[in-house]
Amino acid sequence: MTTFRIAPSILSADFARLGEEVRNVVAAGADIIHFDVMDNHYVPNLTIGPLVCEAIRPHVQVPIDVHLMVKPVDRIIPDFAKAGANIITFHPEGSEHIDRSLQLIRDHGCKAGLVLNPATPLHVLEHVMDKLDIILLMSVNPGFGGQSFIPHTLKKIAAVRQMINESGRDIMLEVDGGVKIDNIREIAAAGADTFVAGSAIFGKPDYKAVIDAMRAELAK
Ligand code: DX5
Ligand code: ZN
Repeated sequence: MTTFRIAPSILSADFARLGEEVRNVVAAGADIIHFDVMDNHYVPNLTIGPLVCEAIRPHVQVPIDVHLMVKPVDRIIPDFAKAGANIITFHPEGSEHIDRSLQLIRDHGCKAGLVLNPATPLHVLEHVMDKLDIILLMSVNPGFGGQSFIPHTLKKIAAVRQMINESGRDIMLEVDGGVKIDNIREIAAAGADTFVAGSAIFGKPDYKAVIDAMRAELAK
């Protein structure tokens, strides 16, 4: 049976109360904290870095999943590993040498993954499957929370699920962007096992009610 994981994106949290926000969302049932790093270069927005990762680390026991929307990516990887990240993913466009960047993440003791934008072809995964612990498929264009799920990514999720099954490896398949209570079931049916949700969770007063409702959909 698939283990489903809910990964709230703190991009939509109240940054003035971040420690409390991450504690609350973990108490509400989050399996992972999704940490969006934007550099105002690879994506047109600027968010948080290793200092903030280090600051929230003592507040939560669950894995911190650092999504690097950064170019170039290599220099910042060791900083996030030292700041307590457990998973680090990056976009192939952010690295000159994808295989080397994946290895760099693993050498620092973290799980490594690639992130594919809605228009990024799947062949980028082909020769690095053995270095991937996670594949993150964007279901919106990266840069902002609160966008709508792009429906054609469902086909892509199914295609990546097939690639993972054929590899025989245990690779997490995470989906990020526009995930809500009312579409999480079809995203899971397409083959995802890990669900990033920012505005759907932090945009509501009762985080547990949203996470419980998502789990109820996944159990259907
Ligand atoms: C977008 C980020 C997402 C974002 C998701 O570039 O990678 O993690 O926070 O937000 P929602 O769930 O609101 O689409
Ligand atoms: Zn993200």
